[in-house]
Amino acid sequence: MTETIQNRIRRLKTEKNAIILAHNYELPEIQDIADVVGDSLELAIKAKEATEEIIVFCGVEFMAETAKILNPEKKVILPVKGAGCPLADQLTPEMLLEAKQEYPGAEVVVYVNSTAECKAVADLVCTSANAANAVRSCRSKTVIFGPDSNLADYVQGEVPEKIIIPVPKTGHCYVHAVFTEDDVREAKKNGRITICHPECPKNIRDHADIIASTGGMVREAVKGDRWTIFTEKEMAYRLKTLYPDKEFSVNENAICRDMKLTTLKKLEEALISGEYNVTLPDDIIQKASGAIERMIAIKG
Ligand code: 13P
Ligand code: SF4
Repeated sequence: MTETIQNRIRRLKTEKNAIILAHNYELPEIQDIADVVGDSLELAIKAKEATEEIIVFCGVEFMAETAKILNPEKKVILPVKGAGCPLADQLTPEMLLEAKQEYPGAEVVVYVNSTAECKAVADLVCTSANAANAVRSCRSKTVIFGPDSNLADYVQGEVPEKIIIPVPKTGHCYVHAVFTEDDVREAKKNGRITICHPECPKNIRDHADIIASTGGMVREAVKGDRWTIFTEKEMAYRLKTLYPDKEFSVNENAICRDMKLTTLKKLEEALISGEYNVTLPDDIIQKASGAIERMIAIKG
């Protein structure tokens, strides 16, 4: 009898002493085979704690880079080279350095959805789960924040005592731009609880019942039975797996194309070849690690 691809992956994983981490937006079959499925913060913490020799990160590049910075001595594999995040690409270190000149003394908080080079010039990194607490922890009143301007605006509402400067002014994720206010109103009219990611534009955040990271959505979902979720579509699969008796509806057009690049075949190939092995210059690892360690220490 031929061995299934799932069994081949499990066998390879044991032979190579690897752990498979997967983000909540990964394809269902990838979520099913992963050792841990979670949000950016949960996965970064797991990567830091990993005792296996190899971390296979089913997600996008900034997540695998963060795992590498936390664990420079380990091999971190991203199964598809070039699986990126168009939001992360909207910020450069030069933009942050320019903002620092314009606002002397302002601390720089960068969202984990950013390049390692940007993290290297940041004082602090945050995820959507702990962004408000990260900004609260800054010593300066003015805080430079990039690249997601929607998350920056959400945090500004949560932390009114700070002045947040978004860099760039209109940085955003295309996946979270597909929703309309009418979608939220309609869902509520139908008796559903609405929950949105803080990367959603203000008009969606203003109408949703709850705003939460993808890990936050997992925790909030215990509180109700019929949900409409405003984030990437695979989040509905994740929630349905955890809560089979509850209802989760989602906009099927909210698709993160890069998260869909990792297939079982790509995962198997990566375990066989050991590629794509994430590498970063030593000075970038050194400069970024303090800001990422601070992120891990800040509660959601
Ligand atoms: P979470 O950290 O909430 O999982 O978000 C990651 C992300 O890329 C959202 O688009
Ligand atoms: Fe980046 Fe948006 Fe995809 Fe999240 S959903 S990884 S922010 S492109």
